[in-house]
Formats: sequence, C-alpha cells, structure tokens
Amino acid sequence: MPEPAKHFLGYFTMADQPTIKIIKDGPYQVKGRVPFIEQSIAVNEAGESIEWAQTGEFEAKETMQLCRCGKSGSKPFCDGSHTDGFDGTEVADRRPFAEQAKVLDGPRFKLMDQEDLCALARFCDTHQTVWDEVEKTDDPEVAAIFLDQISDCVSGRLVAIDTQTGEPVLPPRDMRLSTTQDPAEGVSGPLYVEGGIRVVSADGEEYEKRSRMALCRCGKSGNKPFCDGSHVKAGWSDKA
Ligand code: FES
Repeated sequence: MPEPAKHFLGYFTMADQPTIKIIKDGPYQVKGRVPFIEQSIAVNEAGESIEWAQTGEFEAKETMQLCRCGKSGSKPFCDGSHTDGFDGTEVADRRPFAEQAKVLDGPRFKLMDQEDLCALARFCDTHQTVWDEVEKTDDPEVAAIFLDQISDCVSGRLVAIDTQTGEPVLPPRDMRLSTTQDPAEGVSGPLYVEGGIRVVSADGEEYEKRSRMALCRCGKSGNKPFCDGSHVKAGWSDKA
C-alpha cells in the first residue's frame, strides 16, 4: 500500500512542513506539495450561499508563487506584475484569534466572532443567520445548521465553542489551498487556506495557525494579508 502523504499524518518537522511565505510587496511563496483546487460558492434559489463546490484543480507543486497583487496576467500564479508599485504591507492585528474575537453566548454552543476577518462569503446569513441561531442552539436541528454554516466560513472569522466541554468545534481538515469564486456576485475571492498551513510574514514572524484562513489575492484588502471582502466592492476577477 503506498504511504500516505506526510501532511495527512501530521508529523512534519518545522523545516519541511508546508508553508506560505509572504514576500514583501510580492507574491505568496508556497512550499510543500499540498492539494490546490478552485472552489465556488453554490447558492440556493434565493441566492443564499449553501455550500462550496469544487470547480477546478491545479497541479500541486513543491514550490509555487501565487499572485497577491491581483494584477498577474497568469493568475493564480505570479508573473511579476507586483513590481509595478504594489504595496503589500501587512497591517492585520497579529494577536491570537481568542484575544480578538467577541463571544456571543448560547445554550449549547457559543459563537466567537472576529469581524475584521470577514471575506463576504455569506454562509453566515443563510437560514436565520448564525447570530440569531446561537441563542437557539438547544434545538438540535438549529445547532446542526449553525455548525454547518460556521464550517463553511472561509476566513475563520466564526468559531463555535461547545458549552459542555469549553472547546472549539473544529472538525479535522486536511491541508489544502483553493482559489475561490463567487458567481452570485460575479467576482473571484481570496486564497482559502485549510488545515493549519503555516503562514509566515515578510518580516519572518509566523501567524497564528488556523484551520481556515482567507488570504487576499486581489491586492485591495485593508487588512492584509487577510481578505476583508474588498474584492466584492472592487468587482475583482481572476479570470480577467
Ligand atoms: S481577495 Fe478579498 S479583499 Fe482581496
């Protein structure tokens, strides 16, 4: 039987674990062969976000340079366009999520919410919205929908806390990178980073490892390196 890829077993050393290194005013330099796909937001008849659907696949390479300025002619890959004056300064608050998130109480689950990470994928607005549902999580049906919506949150803005254990509800995820598409808005979205892939700043400091992160690739976020939803207002597309 072939040996599973090492990242599925979680025994990487610091030196060989998959890493996204942010290059100053330049691309994301990805090292480590992780699956790399395209995912799109699927909507219901009312136009509400209901699930992520795989709509493409890229070859997973040992080293890749992914566009961060939004202007490459060969997106999602870098073609050097950032040298035309891209300011990629990282301004996001680097304190841990637990220090920055607000906590909303609920009977069965609590909701942690760090609003400035929002990537506008809108899964939280489907049904009754997660902010209304959290107060009704003693109803198992509502709780299941609530957890499902939070799990689809691309940015890690939202995390559920189990009130019985006090632990975050974070189903295991394999490491994976995705470019994202938002057909309902007619735009492309951030780089969806799953499974706790290391992200290292241009200054060498490592960001808190998260099960989900959304990294800006349109170049317009005011919260770099994270997406802040600016790609929607800008009408940015990686197909252009
Ligand atoms: S991709 Fe969302 S703000 Fe740039």
